[in-house]
Amino acid sequence: MIGRTDVNSVTNWNAPLVWEGTFDPVVIDDIYRRMNPRVAVVVLAVGKYTRFLKGFLESGEKYFLVGLRVTYYIFTDNEQDVPNVTLSEGRKITILPVPSAKRWQDVVLSKMKWATVTIDKQIRNEADYLFMMDIDSVFYNRFGAESLSRMSAVLHRAFYKRDQFPYERRPESKAYIPAGEGDYYYTAAVWGGYLEDMYRLVKYCYEQSEEDAKNNIEAVWQEESHLNKYFLYNKPAKVLSPEYLWSDYETPGSDIKLIRISQLVKDYAEVRPNGGQ
Ligand code: GAL
Repeated sequence: MIGRTDVNSVTNWNAPLVWEGTFDPVVIDDIYRRMNPRVAVVVLAVGKYTRFLKGFLESGEKYFLVGLRVTYYIFTDNEQDVPNVTLSEGRKITILPVPSAKRWQDVVLSKMKWATVTIDKQIRNEADYLFMMDIDSVFYNRFGAESLSRMSAVLHRAFYKRDQFPYERRPESKAYIPAGEGDYYYTAAVWGGYLEDMYRLVKYCYEQSEEDAKNNIEAVWQEESHLNKYFLYNKPAKVLSPEYLWSDYETPGSDIKLIRISQLVKDYAEVRPNGGQ
């Protein structure tokens, strides 16, 4: 029996909302292994963040889109620190050198810039789907082809049971969402979709933050704020439950039957170039 009665498994615009128990992994895997798509994963590992690569890649090989073709595109300012991880057949790593940044906020936003440039130049010819992912995470369970769609967004674990969201509320920012508007709040740490749709959205986040910078404003949660504005008015084709990005800081409730990927506990002050702010 496939289905859940304790959670919504469809959004009010009729997109699937994916939870453990709402799909048959055997059927899904069979469909996608026949289609054999090429999936790009873009991660940024600059400064001390290269220490997260090993855990991310090794666990990714165990749980992320197993049996499909995956290329991890690693943007880094420190190539020597990229670990040598054994990958399964059909999977590879491409290292892309980027300059260092002084503030973690700039690190986050530069990810949109490098991704825009590199998708345009290179990835577009090498992939059908693209995921943007934060590197400071580890896979714990299957993160499979049920996550794929034209545009898939993950509900932020801290807000999926709330109706107050941390959108950008200052009209001066391009990410502005008026009070009273909004339905879901999505994380920017995991999102994915068709290559061309992702390209448009990554570029949108980059350009909107550049506009903000010209006007001396930075959206409250950087590219996450721009992403949420976009998704409010251009609905994602599929919504993924917070199983698709949890945090090791928090114990899940009974609706989370399994955690597929989780953000690691880290010392922000130690790991970020400009400390914890
Ligand atoms: C935090 C997360 C931030 C941002 C924020 C939104 O838990 O670390 O990246 O998503 O929530 O309130």
